[in-house]
Amino acid sequence: MSAQNHAALRRRLVAGNWKMNGTRTQAAELMRDISAVNFSDCDVVLVPPFVYLLEAQEHLYGTHIGLGAQSCSSEDVGAYTGDVSAQMLKDVACHWVLVGHSERRSLFGEDDSVVLKKTRQIIKHNMNAIVCVGETLDEREAGRVEDVIKAQLQGLIDDLTPEDWQQVVIAYEPVWAIGTGRTATPEQAQQVHAFVRAQLAKVDETVASSTRIIYGGSVNAANAAELFAQPDVDGGLVGGASLKAKEFIEICQTVG
Ligand code: PGA
Repeated sequence: MSAQNHAALRRRLVAGNWKMNGTRTQAAELMRDISAVNFSDCDVVLVPPFVYLLEAQEHLYGTHIGLGAQSCSSEDVGAYTGDVSAQMLKDVACHWVLVGHSERRSLFGEDDSVVLKKTRQIIKHNMNAIVCVGETLDEREAGRVEDVIKAQLQGLIDDLTPEDWQQVVIAYEPVWAIGTGRTATPEQAQQVHAFVRAQLAKVDETVASSTRIIYGGSVNAANAAELFAQPDVDGGLVGGASLKAKEFIEICQTVG
């Protein structure tokens, strides 16, 4: 199959990462408004804080909207106070988990080996991992973008089997674009997405052409269409704009 046909087969994905925002009431309203829309042409995933997951599962039951968690433990079970295991997330009907978000990396010391362990937990419990990679501004200005991304992907490429990759999405999120209102240009995003895809070809060509690579970093209703029009951009990971139902719906509708 040609690379172009594979691109057509990659179903677009938009995930809304609520981070540590909102109240229980606001969460319920957001879910009610977003789940009232039928997004038939793309996967839409909501990623609320842990404490709202169970209620979210009830709100989203019977809709086409997927449920995700913002993180999980790298361990199976045991004395890890404050942590939540992949098995527990599966138990409350999560199908998606974010891993290696830059805030987890910088604020909670989540390094590449932890990212790999968490990804394996997620795969083991039959969920999908959205693994985040991205460079800081200093690294970009020093011309190190490809080195940084390559290093962040290396453990996954060495360790995961082609079957495992069916449960992995990569999110390219330049750290300088997260929550700053400063988005990567479509060309900058496309360049890194194509680089990520070339790295995945080290596993095999099918993994490279079928793995979804989504963009994150100040995505909003005004810039989503241009970003998602790039050939290797398969959707978005949306933070701030996912807290506004109308805007998030508009973003999802730009892909399908
Ligand atoms: P942002 O966040 O859309 O607010 O920049 C994106 C993210 O952190 O996933």
